[in-house]
Amino acid sequence: MRAVAVIAFLGLVAVASAEFILQQEMIDQINNANVGWTAGVNPRFAGKTREDIKGLLGTKLLPKGTKLREFPVVDTIVDAIPTSFDARTQWPASIHPIRDQQQCGSCWAFGATEALSDRLAIASNNSINVVLSPQDLVSCDSTDYGCDGGYPINAWHYMQSLGVVTDTCYPYTSGNGDSGTCQITGKKTPACATATFYKAKTAYQVANNMAAIQSEILANGPVEAAFSVYDDFFSYTSGVYSHQSGALDGGHAVKIVGWGVDGTTPYWIVANSWGTSWGQAGFFWIKRGNDECGIEDGIVAGLAAV
Ligand SMILES: *[C@@H]1O[C@H](CO)[C@@H](O)[C@H](O)[C@H]1NC(C)=O
Repeated sequence: MRAVAVIAFLGLVAVASAEFILQQEMIDQINNANVGWTAGVNPRFAGKTREDIKGLLGTKLLPKGTKLREFPVVDTIVDAIPTSFDARTQWPASIHPIRDQQQCGSCWAFGATEALSDRLAIASNNSINVVLSPQDLVSCDSTDYGCDGGYPINAWHYMQSLGVVTDTCYPYTSGNGDSGTCQITGKKTPACATATFYKAKTAYQVANNMAAIQSEILANGPVEAAFSVYDDFFSYTSGVYSHQSGALDGGHAVKIVGWGVDGTTPYWIVANSWGTSWGQAGFFWIKRGNDECGIEDGIVAGLAAV
């Protein structure tokens, strides 16, 4: 893991405080320009300042094109890739609800545990159907930085080597931005006397290649992705997001569940962890095939150990 830590990453850019993140002028400009998506005032960020949101983007982005030698890069491409695909309709009982990381830069832990929860259910034909605990990673994964951020691939490596308990067993308490101290000692947490540790069998990177990413989702379920968030993203309400305006705010991790085409514009279907009042009931579409905001560059996953 030491090799990972020394690689430079994009941190949060210095920004002026007390400026509202949702600006009506920017929203109007986006909506007047017919860019393929609609901006608006998401209740999640109404009245929030830059100061309020700066702790939210906790994914450390590796420099574009970086692949870490210690983790395999999967670039398998299957023959028949459908025009559109949605894991929620393919595996209706296996895809878990949208969550809310609140005021903690724990997106890297949410993206990882959400994708592994889905993959366990898919691989076991729903005989293992649990919501895994992001708190486990936030408080206990010492290769990452809790609410101050993390590397998605490190999260998968943690889930592969140590496993992760359920959310019922170890509920989320870091919404206030406090990473907490690890409560797992000797396979026990305060909430459950004998915890089951659910594991990933593998931890790997997926090549920055649209067909390889699609093939991975078709074969094994949702993947974790990381991308650069700019000011305009906070105001996304519907349509296919592509970056239009505003400053870079930081790196963010999410879960890709499928893809489609809107008119002639290809997009990914992505689950965010900002609650259901943001975007399309917590989901968003982002342009697919041009590495929009780096969304195709940092895909990671692992096979569920069932
Ligand atoms: C998966 O579970 C369903 C419902 O219990 C069952 O009908 C189906 O046969 C199972 N499929 C496999 C491949 O085991």
